[in-house]
Amino acid sequence: MPLEPTKYIWHNGKLIAWDQAKIHVMSHVIHYGSSIFEGIRCYKTEQGAAIFRLQDHMQRLLDSAKIYRMDLDYSVDQLCRAVVETVEANGVAPCYIRPIAFRGYGELGVHPQRNPMEVYIGNFPWGKYVSGDHGADICISSWTRLAPNTLPAMAKAGANYMNSQLIRMEATVNGYDEAVALDVSGYVSEGSGENLFVVSKGQLLTSPLSNSVLNGITRASIITLAREMGLTVLEQSIPREMLYIADELFFTGTAAEVTPIRSVDRIVIKDGHAGPITQKLAAEYFGIAAGKRPDRFNWLTPVKVTAGEPVSA
Ligand SMILES: Cc1ncc(COP(=O)(O)O)c(C=O)c1O
Repeated sequence: MPLEPTKYIWHNGKLIAWDQAKIHVMSHVIHYGSSIFEGIRCYKTEQGAAIFRLQDHMQRLLDSAKIYRMDLDYSVDQLCRAVVETVEANGVAPCYIRPIAFRGYGELGVHPQRNPMEVYIGNFPWGKYVSGDHGADICISSWTRLAPNTLPAMAKAGANYMNSQLIRMEATVNGYDEAVALDVSGYVSEGSGENLFVVSKGQLLTSPLSNSVLNGITRASIITLAREMGLTVLEQSIPREMLYIADELFFTGTAAEVTPIRSVDRIVIKDGHAGPITQKLAAEYFGIAAGKRPDRFNWLTPVKVTAGEPVSA
């Protein structure tokens, strides 16, 4: 989906015009992938627009910065205020919010620390991410997810997405909606931009962080909602073949939200329809996001924007 520009982008403490948010081609990030970022959704709720789990996203941005020894001069609260300021100034909701921090222009060697850190926040309308309205048809990627102690999977760094791009392109070229990559030991890791859940014999399973997955905020939300419903949730390594014989499968992510999976490697999951547990969890998740169900975990940050209609896919 092409980017739809909004009016302003926040840069190092100030709102600037969308078209002014430019960087030099000799910036460190362009050459060495030295960026960290977040992806956040602002929903239209019955009470107005609201950002989903803003503090958790900003904390993860600071965690990514810490892993990469990037000094960001902002606290979680300051970053949250900056996001709210940007969304309110642009007056667009629902929308997708993209905070990014990277090493800028100064020196062009691998050693990064003498380059300035630049922080930007943009937001724009965005629709459905993983296509497949009746459930996604996915494959197992021939690409392996980041191995431990190579690129840290817990950091949401731009460089990790070179691996994600290979996974996603391979899926598209071969006619699938998305792919799941295995980790270096052959266990299920995650999609190119989503965590994965399996329903098996009434239990909910998802790969632990030790299988090279991003510590997804939607993943954490689904675990919380599932436990609230009384479901057993197990974070355990998942062998590939368990996907084929699962009762239900679904992706989670800020972009993917809760996306049911219809088939894996052309093997249809159960009867090919979103199963009851997937539907129940999705209803609860979207219910909170839409302000139709109580926000009992304080996941929503209200913003003063006249919320428009949801953007279409
Ligand atoms: C590789 C990867 N895994 C998982 C996720 C899901 O994370 P979250 O739910 O925090 O958006 C994302 C999306 O950001 C991702 O890029």
